Amino acid sequence: MNQETPIYMNCAEAPGALKKPRRHGQARALKCAVLLSLVLMIAFFSFGRASAQKKDSCVECHSQMEAELLKPVELMKNDTHNSRGLSCVDCHRGDASQDDPMAAMDPKKGFIGKPDPENIPAFCGSCHSNADQMKKFAPALRVDQEREYGTSVHGKRLQAGDRKVATCISCHGNHGIRAVNDSLSPVYSLNVAETCSRCHASADYMKGYAIASDQYDKYKSSVHAKALYERQDLSAPTCNDCHGNHGAAPPGVASVANVCGQCHARQSTLFASSPHKTAFDAMQIGECLECHSNHDILPPSDEMLGTAEKSVCTSCHTEKEDNGFVTAGEMRARIGELITAINATNDILNQAERSGMEVSRPKFELNEARDALTHARVLIHSFSLDEVDRVIKPGLEIARKGHRAGEDSLSEWSYRRKGLAASLFFILFLAALVYLKLRQIESSQRKGGE
Ligand code: HEC
Ligand code: HEC
Ligand code: HEC
Ligand code: HEC
Ligand code: HEC
Ligand code: HEC
Ligand code: HEC
Ligand code: HEC
Ligand code: HEC
Repeated sequence: MNQETPIYMNCAEAPGALKKPRRHGQARALKCAVLLSLVLMIAFFSFGRASAQKKDSCVECHSQMEAELLKPVELMKNDTHNSRGLSCVDCHRGDASQDDPMAAMDPKKGFIGKPDPENIPAFCGSCHSNADQMKKFAPALRVDQEREYGTSVHGKRLQAGDRKVATCISCHGNHGIRAVNDSLSPVYSLNVAETCSRCHASADYMKGYAIASDQYDKYKSSVHAKALYERQDLSAPTCNDCHGNHGAAPPGVASVANVCGQCHARQSTLFASSPHKTAFDAMQIGECLECHSNHDILPPSDEMLGTAEKSVCTSCHTEKEDNGFVTAGEMRARIGELITAINATNDILNQAERSGMEVSRPKFELNEARDALTHARVLIHSFSLDEVDRVIKPGLEIARKGHRAGEDSLSEWSYRRKGLAASLFFILFLAALVYLKLRQIESSQRKGGE
């Protein structure tokens, strides 16, 4: 604009210049003609480009509408499809070159108005299941959403005519669909649970189904939700990490360990070779769930182990002669022993440090005993006392060594303190002698003066 204005000003002056010729009148007229043709050329090319761009009568007309008919146009401004040049006609079909609504929204031209819920997976799948088409836009995007969805409880029930289950648009929206890693997308990690909860946490909506509506509340109280929401730890799972993005089904007894094992590989491996593996399989109970549950997983503690009230073992191992009962008690005792040893060593080393003794090395080494404790809490998933002992024993050894180092430091300190007291006494004694001697000299001098 700023550049165009002076051009027109020049040209407006030009006729006047011609009427009253000046010295450079001709040159001026030539300059003006050049500028004028330049302006015409620019206008011609930009018009040419505009007419080459596809006409979009859908947007043109719907922009003039109100409410429900206008909203899609507004929402599409933030749509990932729009950012790739896809528009109304790419989803709804019809003919966007027609201004006449009957011709534009002609079902004979494939126009689909508002698709029925049953048809939505195929509606979205017309592109998203088409590998050739998707390759052109986003080669890295998966093309299995519709197929996976078909295997889910949602998909199967939809096919059977249940219109209350989630379809593609329940989770992604219809207009204004965002890329899944956009923090405003309803399926972004921090938003997924809220999206699922719109149905699953509503007792009213889920009335008539055989399942509870407490998954969201329970999940929100779990260690996982705390890690995700309070520490923004995106590696902690939300609904779709355990249920899949599109194949939403309860993981099922056989695959629970795989679900948890995706992230907790060590516990999962240990469990698989433990005596519980075959026992739990035979009882058809979910591996990790039996002790940790699925949605309200709480921070584990040593109290879960053993034979006391809060133990998870005693729900099955009740008899005193039962090997499981005995082992549970022993494991708890071993862990307790290591904790006591670590605490005692820590205390004595702190005391030595406060007294000014150099104990940084044994303090550092005590970390190895702490690591052993952490390791032991993982190894309990082998449900074998030998395995746990394998790390507890060296841990105890380190803790005890540290304790001896602390004791040595403290006795050295007390030895040094005694030495200090003796030398202090000696210095005071000398000072007193000097003082007395001075007094003696002083008084003999005074006597001499008299
Ligand atoms: C000249 C205006 C005009 C044009 C052009 C137009 N529409 Fe519409 N559209 C309307 C009006 C008015 C309605 C509501 C009346 C109706 O349902 O027929 C509507 C309704 C719709 C609906 C909702 C139908 C339903 O079943 O609820 C969809 C979807 C739609 N238009 C998409 C499109 C698409 C896609 C295009 C371009 C191919 C398009 N429109 C072109 C005016 C227009
Ligand atoms: C990504 C595919 C997609 C695109 C692009 C798209 N729509 Fe839709 N549209 C849908 C779906 C799916 C529905 C059905 C929504 C439902 O059932 O609630 C729908 C419904 C509608 C409706 C019915 C009223 C409503 O909101 O439910 C209108 C009107 C409409 N679309 C117009 C448009 C217009 C105009 C554009 C372009 C600005 C557009 N749509 C772009 C998928 C799309
Ligand atoms: C129950 C909710 C839900 C339903 C139903 C659903 N999606 Fe998704 N969708 C998700 C989640 C969750 C993600 C993954 C988010 C992430 O990766 O963090 C996702 C991811 C996607 C992606 C990105 C690529 C990918 O596969 O990760 C596309 C494309 C997609 N969905 C399309 C669809 C289509 C098409 C349908 C219908 C056939 C559908 N979705 C049904 C929840 C859903
Ligand atoms: C005309 C073809 C077409 C239709 C129909 C279509 N999509 Fe898409 N969709 C695409 C393309 C192409 C992309 C990739 C755009 C990009 O890379 O941002 C995409 C991207 C997406 C994404 C974002 C994936 C990501 O990168 O995170 C989601 C979610 C999605 N579509 C869901 C839907 C849903 C739900 C429907 C049905 C209501 C639908 N799409 C209908 C072509 C289509
Ligand atoms: C539009 C509502 C709606 C949304 C949104 C929704 N669901 Fe569902 N879901 C249902 C309904 C209804 C059922 C059928 C209940 C049944 O199985 O009896 C169901 C079933 C399920 C089941 C199978 C339960 C069973 O044991 O039969 C799982 C798992 C599930 N949904 C997970 C999810 C997850 C995870 C999300 C979010 C990513 C989600 N759902 C989003 C409505 C919804
Ligand atoms: C840490 C993994 C995990 C997370 C996170 C998770 N689930 Fe589950 N969910 C499971 C497992 C495992 C089962 C199967 C329990 C069984 O087989 O007894 C299950 C079962 C379900 C069921 C079937 C009914 C029931 O209560 O048993 C629904 C519905 C469900 N989950 C929805 C959700 C929703 C919604 C979220 C998010 C708010 C969610 N889940 C988060 C692991 C998880
Ligand atoms: C997507 C990865 C992922 C999945 C799947 C997963 N978890 Fe976790 N889990 C985590 C993360 C991350 C933490 C937080 C670790 C922390 O506190 O630093 C965690 C924490 C835990 C804790 C507490 C650990 C502690 O030291 O406080 C337990 C117990 C747990 N998960 C059990 C399970 C069970 C049982 C399942 C299956 C039903 C499961 N997890 C599925 C990632 C996962
Ligand atoms: C028979 C009961 C039982 C089963 C089955 C079980 N756990 Fe544990 N789990 C415990 C106990 C008890 C603790 C607490 C140990 C402690 O703190 O002393 C624990 C602690 C944990 C911890 C935190 C401590 C750590 O770092 O190991 C995680 C994570 C964990 N379990 C995951 C799992 C997973 C994943 C599975 C399934 C493969 C599983 N558990 C199966 C009883 C069980
Ligand atoms: C859901 C029930 C259940 C829970 C909970 C459970 N166990 Fe077991 N456990 C079994 C069954 C069943 C067996 C195999 C039969 C048997 O030997 O008693 C078994 C076997 C064992 C064995 C091997 C016994 C042998 O004779 O070799 C040990 C050790 C054991 N459990 C320890 C534990 C500990 C420790 C806990 C708590 C952290 C625990 N169990 C929790 C059911 C359970």
